[in-house]
Amino acid sequence: MDAIEVIRAKRDRRELTTAQIDWVIDAYTRGEVADEQMSALAMAILLNGMDRREIADWTLAMIRSGERMDWSSLDRPTADKHSTGGVGDKITLPLAPLVAACGAYVPQLSGRGLGHTGGTLDKLESIPGWRASLSNAEMLDVLRTAGAVVCAAGSGLAPADKKLYALRDVTGTVESIPLIASSIMSKKIAEGTGSLVLDVKVGSGAFMKTVPDARELAETMVALGTDAGVRTVALLTAMDRPLGLAVGNALEVAESIEVLSGGGPADVVELTVRLAREMLEAAGITGAKDPAKALADGSAMDVWRRMISAQGGDPDAPLPRAAETMTVEAPGSGVLTRLDAYAVGLAAWRLGAGRARKEDPVSAGAGVVLHAKPGDEVRAGQPLMTLHADEAQRFERALEALEGAYEVGEAAEERLPLIIDRIT
Ligand code: URA
Repeated sequence: MDAIEVIRAKRDRRELTTAQIDWVIDAYTRGEVADEQMSALAMAILLNGMDRREIADWTLAMIRSGERMDWSSLDRPTADKHSTGGVGDKITLPLAPLVAACGAYVPQLSGRGLGHTGGTLDKLESIPGWRASLSNAEMLDVLRTAGAVVCAAGSGLAPADKKLYALRDVTGTVESIPLIASSIMSKKIAEGTGSLVLDVKVGSGAFMKTVPDARELAETMVALGTDAGVRTVALLTAMDRPLGLAVGNALEVAESIEVLSGGGPADVVELTVRLAREMLEAAGITGAKDPAKALADGSAMDVWRRMISAQGGDPDAPLPRAAETMTVEAPGSGVLTRLDAYAVGLAAWRLGAGRARKEDPVSAGAGVVLHAKPGDEVRAGQPLMTLHADEAQRFERALEALEGAYEVGEAAEERLPLIIDRIT
């Protein structure tokens, strides 16, 4: 078999055979298929698609490129959540300890931010001392001690995806439903969780801009998980406006701690509790403490503290703060009709919260704090948001990102409901 034959097949809109897929993923992982050949194949897949059987084969081949974790020595079911990413999406931070407090083990491998969406590991790394890289043995230890662990995926997990995702990132081939679905699910299945809840975001701040595209991605991923024996369910949720009020690393940790203390913004609390209930149901845990109670009675906070400490972090240490702030005021009186998620994410990124290249550092304190959300009444001159940055010269480009991103008018525009649909 050779790479050109496989590329030509997909270029000419033919289905790839199982043998062709197994070969090309294995040969690419070993370095026998060159990056330029794999990028041609990725572009052919982006343009011509793959059917369900091809996507399932592609996913299995990527799982087989590395190790598969096994949590069968644990005495309770495992549950995980994956979000396709959005602006202000800090849900993993309160959710993982919450679900552990209600009786499941939560082994969650997470990523770093790239572009306008933040990464869970970058957020947690703003806690002094906290460590993202754990060996498999350490991961098991934290799980046993705290009930939940959030850490970086080791290099042994789906290495084909690691290589391919980096290549797609620089070849304009990220936005392909078959490639996104197989990339996410290969890692989640290899991670060994027994059940999985997918939070598929929809709107300007998400990969998927429309409900039909998000639904197709969700259905593809649910089918891949179910076929692999992982009980999988997906929620389609709104990302046309930011989630919560804080966007940025330490700022989102602070908001998550508010949620774990029984407070926090209503949308973050609603989504956290709903995802927790879905995870417990998918894990087959019945009669567990209700997640809303576990937030109110402090038991989720207890797990958070154990989880942070077990990974070297100090849950009582003050969080880093940016040196400079700037207030953006409401341009008129009325209702905040629109606040675009992508623009706020881009502003936070330009303030230093995100990175342009994988190896870039991020600022722990940078980001945006919102003082109003779409639908809220505002008065002319009242603070609409506060920008946080380590250097004041970052404000100008952040303000450019926010041009045209918000409007004050007579009545709020129609928004997506927070929870749009559930896919099983
Ligand atoms: N996240 C992933 O892990 N893979 C993709 O392809 C897109 C988002």
